[in-house]
Amino acid sequence: MPTDPAQPFDRLSLDALRRRQSLKWRAYPPDVLPLFVAEMDTLPAPAVRAALDEALDLGDTGYPWGPGYAEAYADAAQAAWGWRPDPAATALVADVMTGVVEVLALVTGPGDAVVIVPPVYPPFAGFVTHTGRRLVEAPLGVDGRLDLDALERACADAAAGGRRAALLLASPHNPTGTVHTAAELAAVAALAERHGVRVVVDEIHAPLTRVDGPAFTPYLAVPGAERGFVVFSASKAWNLAGLKAALAVAGPGAAAELAAMPEVVGHGASSLGVLAHTAALRGGQEWLAEHRAGLDAQQRLLGRLLAEHLPALRWTPPQATYLAWLDCRALDLPADPAAFFLEHARVALGVGPDFGTGGAGHVRLNFATSTAVLTEAVERMAAAVGR
Ligand SMILES: Cc1ncc(COP(=O)(O)O)c(C=O)c1O
Repeated sequence: MPTDPAQPFDRLSLDALRRRQSLKWRAYPPDVLPLFVAEMDTLPAPAVRAALDEALDLGDTGYPWGPGYAEAYADAAQAAWGWRPDPAATALVADVMTGVVEVLALVTGPGDAVVIVPPVYPPFAGFVTHTGRRLVEAPLGVDGRLDLDALERACADAAAGGRRAALLLASPHNPTGTVHTAAELAAVAALAERHGVRVVVDEIHAPLTRVDGPAFTPYLAVPGAERGFVVFSASKAWNLAGLKAALAVAGPGAAAELAAMPEVVGHGASSLGVLAHTAALRGGQEWLAEHRAGLDAQQRLLGRLLAEHLPALRWTPPQATYLAWLDCRALDLPADPAAFFLEHARVALGVGPDFGTGGAGHVRLNFATSTAVLTEAVERMAAAVGR
């Protein structure tokens, strides 16, 4: 298979990837092509490698210190989206999901409700219920976009009786890759405020929009979002999930609450994580541009492969992320298509029903991988369906 030298996802061989110790490459036996969890099959940004090398050269493996990550994020957000968060209104956290849980703990209590928008990244439901909050669902509309009427009803329900409540949003959305518009986000802010519901937005996928697609709007940049929170990490866009660090960010009307975050929460981030994420945001923009172009190309490749080999499968190419949400219902497969593809194609995919309401009959496919792996995976899936 000829590979494009400009394609960053074609630089690691399958043999090299199989030597990795991470979840993606170890969870299944070696005959399985793993396209489930959101890790990218690529090499780190040179700026990240240099920062880590320098830290190791110096034995700089103590505790993290200082506002460097928050300032790098503020500068990067200003450059990318024309919005500058206040580094003083941020808190260092271990990772995005820890940040989400801890922010929810600031604004809700046990038994209070959290509104989620399924189908959605499975830990949203799992982590929220684990901390004793109740879930209220406002499913995406049939067009794959936010359903503002459903959100209004869910917020009214969540806050009924004057209870504290929150709305947890993924922006861009995982698994559909939907980029919420500024108008949608402003409408969310307004309806949440009407019901006294606090908005927490997970923006981990924000840097990963399609090059010619709709622009990302930071939630805290929209009017009415002042009492909201964002949780951000460079981990997804720069493939640094194993180097733990993330930021919880408060709007101006929520900064005092964020300042009350218990000290223990900040102890979860690792110093190498903070250094790596800071280096990614400061020196990894060229790498990001190359990888966004690479993802655009792999998404187009996936489209061609699906059209050729699995034409009955339906999908809407995502506006962001490297995850494709594939509707397998027309393929006449057993109830859980991911289990079918694992057994018969030896391809591991995200399990649709795990994403909640709207997930049945779907799988999620991670296309941040090589041309060879992506091609073989779709060919294997098609062969399994045609058996
Ligand atoms: C929407 C979303 N939030 C959070 C995470 C996990 O982030 P972290 O490892 O920083 O908790 C992911 C991982 O794929 C994700 O897709």
